[in-house]
Amino acid sequence: MLVMIAGSSGLIGTSLIPHLRHHGHEVLRLVRREPTAPDERGWDPPAGRVQDGAMDGVQAIINLCGVGIADRRWSGARKQAIKDSRVEPTEVLASAAEEHRIPVLINASGINFYGNTGDRQVDETAPGGTGFLAEVCQDWEAATAAARGSSRVVLLRTGAVLSPAGGMLGKLRPLFKLMLGGKIGSGRQYMPWISLDDHVGAVTFLLEKTEVAGPVNLVGPQPATNAEFTQALGEALGRPTPFPVPAAALKAVMGELAEELVLTGPRAVPSVLTEHGYLFQHATIKDALVAATTT
Ligand SMILES: NC(=O)c1ccc[n+]([C@@H]2O[C@H](COP(=O)([O-])OP(=O)(O)OC[C@H]3O[C@@H](n4cnc5c(N)ncnc54)[C@H](OP(=O)(O)O)[C@@H]3O)[C@@H](O)[C@H]2O)c1
Repeated sequence: MLVMIAGSSGLIGTSLIPHLRHHGHEVLRLVRREPTAPDERGWDPPAGRVQDGAMDGVQAIINLCGVGIADRRWSGARKQAIKDSRVEPTEVLASAAEEHRIPVLINASGINFYGNTGDRQVDETAPGGTGFLAEVCQDWEAATAAARGSSRVVLLRTGAVLSPAGGMLGKLRPLFKLMLGGKIGSGRQYMPWISLDDHVGAVTFLLEKTEVAGPVNLVGPQPATNAEFTQALGEALGRPTPFPVPAAALKAVMGELAEELVLTGPRAVPSVLTEHGYLFQHATIKDALVAATTT
């Protein structure tokens, strides 16, 4: 299949491209600068512009765009950038998919779609929740609307992607190595996770699985609480984790971001992936963290 990827230079895109090529797909990249390589095509999401001819022959679009959610403290301007950098590119790509009759649009979204659901287990049939990130995810998914009549639209409701290359583990690993890692708050809140290997594996699976459309939870099959995650990461790194991090201290340092991303999280399960026979490479948080800290 000829696949166009937007947001390809990030954590997921840089692993997904070789994975797709290995599986026999041809990959093009949409870049927000002058294209310089034969596999690059230009676009300007805020201007709503895609290079002429860029979508010729494209059979699937995978959209991974968006500024980092946890890269810095949330100000009003940062929250606007988090939303705009997801909704605008998605609208441009959904319109392009519709205009060029591209059969598949696979669009990033987040597991925070469900908001804070406490101990209740949620699958893809659960309604959207409340809070900034939940509302961003709902607007982000709604921005695919233009493509829904013409394309199979798949929405990747993704948990924290565990990778040796960065993301959440890139931030936590140095703290744990210094023995400053500990459960956060009560530790009972859920931390939806997926290994990077399974993320790119699942996206490739969904690209090829023509009967799947709509939301798909990209999370490991066994939900983990923050306390379980902390213990597994401490063990994987050979470091004890005796000191809990008080919720109030984290809120003072990280602000609103702490409440939405670290102190609460849905107990989400990947029902669509498991019902369609996707086999996880890393089925437990322990397996995923051992793999992500030893490779
Ligand atoms: N990693 C996770 O744990 C995780 C969890 C849940 C959801 N997701 C979502 O999955 C997607 C990919 O994740 P990732 O970890 O690969 O993210 P990432 O490393 O931050 O990469 C995102 C990519 O988005 C593009 N981008 C950055 N700023 C942009 C802007 N203002 N407008 C349009 N595009 C912009 C960039 O690609 P180009 O420079 O090539 O355009 C960047 O490399 C994101 O939408 C993210 O929110 C990720």
